[in-house]
Amino acid sequence: MSLDIQNLEFRSISKRFPGVLACDNVNLKLRKGEILALLGENGAGKTTLMNILYGLYQPDEGEILINGRQVSIDSPQKAGEMGIGMVHQHFMLVPNLTVKENVALCMYNDSFFELDHKAVNAKIREISERHTIKIDPDSYIWKLSVGEQQRVELIKSLSLGANLLILDEPTAVLTPQETEELINLLKEMAAGGCSIIFISHKLNEVKAVSNLIAVLRDGRLVYHGNTNDHSTDELATLMAGRSISLPVAKEKQPSDEIVLELQNVSAMSDRDTPALNKLNLSIHRGEILGLAGVSGNGQTELAEVINGLREVTEGKILLDNEEISNRSPQKIINKGMGYIPADRLHEGTVSSFSVKENIILKDYANPSFSKATFLLNKTISDYSEELVSKFNIKTPGIETTCASLSGGNIQKVILSREITRNPKVLVAVYPTRGLDLGAAEFVHSKLLEARDNDKAVLLVSEELEELMNLSDRIAVIYEGKILKIIPAKEAEKSELGLLMAGVHNEAQAIQ
Ligand SMILES: Nc1ncnc2c1ncn2[C@@H]1O[C@H](COP(=O)(O)OP(=O)(O)O)[C@@H](O)[C@H]1O
Ligand SMILES: [Mg+2]
Repeated sequence: MSLDIQNLEFRSISKRFPGVLACDNVNLKLRKGEILALLGENGAGKTTLMNILYGLYQPDEGEILINGRQVSIDSPQKAGEMGIGMVHQHFMLVPNLTVKENVALCMYNDSFFELDHKAVNAKIREISERHTIKIDPDSYIWKLSVGEQQRVELIKSLSLGANLLILDEPTAVLTPQETEELINLLKEMAAGGCSIIFISHKLNEVKAVSNLIAVLRDGRLVYHGNTNDHSTDELATLMAGRSISLPVAKEKQPSDEIVLELQNVSAMSDRDTPALNKLNLSIHRGEILGLAGVSGNGQTELAEVINGLREVTEGKILLDNEEISNRSPQKIINKGMGYIPADRLHEGTVSSFSVKENIILKDYANPSFSKATFLLNKTISDYSEELVSKFNIKTPGIETTCASLSGGNIQKVILSREITRNPKVLVAVYPTRGLDLGAAEFVHSKLLEARDNDKAVLLVSEELEELMNLSDRIAVIYEGKILKIIPAKEAEKSELGLLMAGVHNEAQAIQ
């Protein structure tokens, strides 16, 4: 039986890792039914603090009090017993099991050897009805969207009786619609007496969902108070310790020269459904073309066909007037393609490789880095050191593996590699997803720099503000087709939003 958590208190919590003080004397309080937003830049110590509450780490100093009594939470199981649930940044679901089986895995089971289907079903039904969470218990996890998988994680926690829920950057992977649904759900849960700790970088969401805010910077609590007492700008300044202004593209005369052209391009999705449907698009030298759309409308497939990672079933792709459709990725790279993929950990880097190895990932065979099949270690190290300093990559050293860097710094490794290779075209897919404002500011300035150096940039994003700040033109993709292209200075959020939902006043999509 889990505790009814009326009060939670962190008292002077500190946690050290080799070389870093991840949490530095943190004091924090939360009462039943409150939603606390925990803010801070990448590496500020948010996840560490929450992992302590969830029993994954032990604090070096300090204590946690529940309902005024000191508790020792030495395992996630213990946390669960106390009514604390956590939805991690990376979901912990088994893809080839069903929703029901995943929930059952984490539930105590009376009949030891056989799954009590009825009981699990009843539990899922009860929770989904109480919180109006829509989910099919018999669906396989791999078939669900990311938003749906997150709901399964929530149901898992709730079925264990959680009444204090920690969500670590839950919206980093969600579409704007899914985010809105999640925010509504969390507010309902809080109204029903659940306490929630919500980690995010996105200040608009934080404003919409929370009533309390705590800001961590370098492990220290620098603000703790009401959400409404500060504007989003003030919160951004608190997080970074300096004021941040996201750069905006200066208007410039477009070039007539088309660098990348897609003619009637079609492709299938992983699930064998049409993903791109005779899509037409051209990008000029020295421009950022922003691609707006709700994710799942063909964006990733588009980036993949351009980079030779997915078959073009119909139509042509031209780079500098030369056909590149269905060429090998290596050939396309050699022709001048740069790619910042959506999945920075699996596609953008080899996470078990060092920073240095990731920096030369695409060029190890280049004569400037290797001679008679031997790598020129000194040259490579010097080059890596130079990029680490130029791109301000925070890493203990160039031999550190990418896996142990924060998201923002992994993104900087990829950016440094792709931009320094001096491509003609740069395809950037959700390049600031999950990054804090300071890191986003950096990525934005580098994309603008690439544009001003005459690269053709395709920027895929769900953030309208990002698209409007950076793009020269904005194209809206819907169900695998470009619905409309608007010069960025004429674009309005409301119109883009409608287009993203497929609402279009002219009957025909651009052909
Ligand atoms: N298991 C770990 N081992 C060593 N250092 C860690 C570990 N977990 C986190 N850190 C370090 O602690 C600091 C805080 O990290 P984290 O809590 O993940 O920050 P946030 O969630 O705010 O981005 C960072 O400097 C990070 O590199
Ligand atoms: Mg974190």
